Amino acid sequence: MGGDKIRVNDLLLTVPLVGGAVWPKTKGQAALQPFLVSLVVPFDVSAAAATDDLRHTINYSLLCSLLRQAFNDQTQPLGSLEDLVSGIFDALFGREDLALNEVHLKLVQPRAPLNCKSVRIEANAKRVSNSTWIVEEMRHCCEDIQCLTIVGVNDCEREERQVVRINVSIEWKQCGIQRVDFRGLTRRLHEKVGQSSFQMLEALASYVSEETLRCLVDIPHSPVVTVRAAKPVAIVFAESSEIEISRTHADFPRIFSTPVALAIGSNLGDRFYNIELALRLLEDPQSLDFKDSFVNVVDTSFMYETAPMYVTNQPSFINCACMVETNLAPIELLKLLKKIEQLVGRVPSIRNGPRAIDLDLILYGDQTIDTRTEPRKELDDLEGQLVVPHPRMFEREFVLRPLNDMVPDLVHPILYRRISDLLATLVTPPDSTPMQKVIPFPQCPPPAGRSVPSTLTHWTLRCSPGDKPGTRVMATLNTTPDSFSDGSTHNTLPAALEYAQSAVSAGAAILDVGGYSTRPGAAFVSPEEEMSRVVPSISAIRASHPQLPMSIDTFRPSVARVALAAGANCINDVYAFTGPNSFPVKAAGGAESDRYLVEMKALAREFAVPIILMHSRGDAGTNKDYSVYDYSGQQNAVVEGVRVELGAKVNSIVKGKGGVRRWLVIVDPGVGFSKTLEGNLQVLRSAASVTADVPVGQGPLRARNPLAGFPQLIGASRKSFLGAILEHTDSGRKTAPKERSWATAAAVACAVQQGALLVRVHDTQEMADVVNVANALW
Ligand SMILES: *[C@@H]1O[C@H](CO)[C@@H](O)[C@H](O)[C@H]1NC(C)=O
Ligand SMILES: *[C@@H]1O[C@H](CO)[C@@H](O)[C@H](O)[C@H]1NC(C)=O
Ligand SMILES: *[C@@H]1O[C@H](CO)[C@@H](O)[C@H](O)[C@H]1NC(C)=O
Repeated sequence: MGGDKIRVNDLLLTVPLVGGAVWPKTKGQAALQPFLVSLVVPFDVSAAAATDDLRHTINYSLLCSLLRQAFNDQTQPLGSLEDLVSGIFDALFGREDLALNEVHLKLVQPRAPLNCKSVRIEANAKRVSNSTWIVEEMRHCCEDIQCLTIVGVNDCEREERQVVRINVSIEWKQCGIQRVDFRGLTRRLHEKVGQSSFQMLEALASYVSEETLRCLVDIPHSPVVTVRAAKPVAIVFAESSEIEISRTHADFPRIFSTPVALAIGSNLGDRFYNIELALRLLEDPQSLDFKDSFVNVVDTSFMYETAPMYVTNQPSFINCACMVETNLAPIELLKLLKKIEQLVGRVPSIRNGPRAIDLDLILYGDQTIDTRTEPRKELDDLEGQLVVPHPRMFEREFVLRPLNDMVPDLVHPILYRRISDLLATLVTPPDSTPMQKVIPFPQCPPPAGRSVPSTLTHWTLRCSPGDKPGTRVMATLNTTPDSFSDGSTHNTLPAALEYAQSAVSAGAAILDVGGYSTRPGAAFVSPEEEMSRVVPSISAIRASHPQLPMSIDTFRPSVARVALAAGANCINDVYAFTGPNSFPVKAAGGAESDRYLVEMKALAREFAVPIILMHSRGDAGTNKDYSVYDYSGQQNAVVEGVRVELGAKVNSIVKGKGGVRRWLVIVDPGVGFSKTLEGNLQVLRSAASVTADVPVGQGPLRARNPLAGFPQLIGASRKSFLGAILEHTDSGRKTAPKERSWATAAAVACAVQQGALLVRVHDTQEMADVVNVANALW
């Protein structure tokens, strides 16, 4: 009797829901929404049929009252339809007396988002243990999205828009609970279809499937999208003409590709050098005789220092991970990794012992592969065999944490759980040392004969407030005669050297050298002039302070190149690699911004230097209305603006082929740039939230904060907004930049409290004192 089923059809539930109403209320408020719930429970009813006794079947009345009780009168609003789905499963599987093992749920929201008739979620869940369940299949459907558009080959059809009706279904397998923003999706499809003018319904349907997949591109678990499109008025004597197609990301290979994840570790020799060398070899498989193949590193994690696991009397590991795109099949990719391991100098040694480089294939799309001929007890040493997903990844923080930096929503193909979820539930021994982020600084100029720079030093970052070391000080050396803050005092070599010496004695961790002021109204300086200002100072300081990290403050690739060749080993760019005409992202700068982006990225990659990317809306000299931070009525609109605008730039720098390694990026919210007084205060007082792991953006573009987890530099020193505050007090005191040290101290203390990695200052000794005390306090 395997096919017996018990059904409950269209049970009405009224549930307070925050999102997803036709007319959503203002942010955060819930609206009561009707839902129709249908359940199918596979259940052998032969016993009940034979005895005609209710005790041998499932009590449907109990099923219904259970759900009504759980949801109908609840005041706690739900965030989404998916929350309701998981709530229903919790309620059903949580009741032991119901003893359900499998449930098919259909949840229809008849009053759906504006542009379609209804939306629906279908999900099949199975019990895996007492009260835990997993969703094995799920489907999101939008029914009857009605659009007016030009479609057809006949002349008359090219003249007027006609109605098309579209159904979209998004189907996931072995997926866990997946989320779709129905409102954003239907709005986008409605808009896009309205603007289109295809000849064929086939092309329109394919376009709709591609647009739908685009909305889901950040969800690494690839769904199947089925689109049905009909032209109800096209044929006079039939009801309608209709097309149905199914597509996945794989059908649009130029746009979407399979996520392949590699874990990287090193605990022998120059660990940062080994990792960079391995990545460069990986990106050039042809040089290792892998003909016609490509491997593009398209995303990287942060980098961590990790105490060794399993074998503890050995040096600590540097761990990171990357995502690649490749046309190599899994086994071929494994061969390439082994070859690179040999080249970089991995000495076969004790299992889990020291190694110059360790490259592991962790995930290859949602494929599961096991090439071992006999099952082995040991999972550690796979001896050239391939097991994907990596069998121990779920218990390894040093694998999960880096993956979580890149693909928190990726679903593990066997465990059906997201990376973020696996990491959150990972049990770490209480006495284990935490993984700490690190930033390596390379040796510049690179030693002769080495194309990959070796490592000068590295910084260890705190992982929670109170850890040491805390905030560090960046001393500022302006070699510009017109610099707003220290005039022309440092534009001669001896003065520069003296300044550097005093900054180091005061405890500065890094020196920032600039030759072109970005202050509003500053005079234009030619690239040649800028180079002639910074290069002699950098060379001289490098010669006398070989170990000191030093950044070049410039937005020009040509200047950055000569500065790195002279000894600077970090780039600090107020335009975040997009040049002075780049607001909001690249739109205004266009081709010019692209040129900056390409050249600066190539340079940062070549020298493997840390880069500091600041938020601004381009050149401060041109008049722009900085009061406009229109981010949908967000409370912290400016902070949201920084996340969205700088986040887009950081994404274009870190992600995709040729991207800069994530572990080399420091972000700067740009206090004093493109912001009003209140905007500057908002950013300063909630700087920590700029890089918090929160959702950002609206509608289909809503995504994890692209700046999540990045270390921050805050530069508030002597800036005019501090002067404006002093001037607006009762005393009305007007201050020159040099008179704003005490004001700067307050801002610096706030930056420390907000957890900044770095504060950029001018009065190094005084601000180092402020930082030391503030570090001790927070
Ligand atoms: C079925 O459930 C209803 C509602 O909870 C309850 O009143 C009834 O007694 C149950 N019947 C049986 C046979 O358990
Ligand atoms: C599962 O149920 C059994 C029997 O009811 C019980 O002994 C056991 O403790 C439960 N396990 C968990 C993890 O709840
Ligand atoms: C969309 O789905 C509904 C309900 O299943 C159906 O009545 C309608 O004909 C479908 N429309 C198209 C264009 O397939």
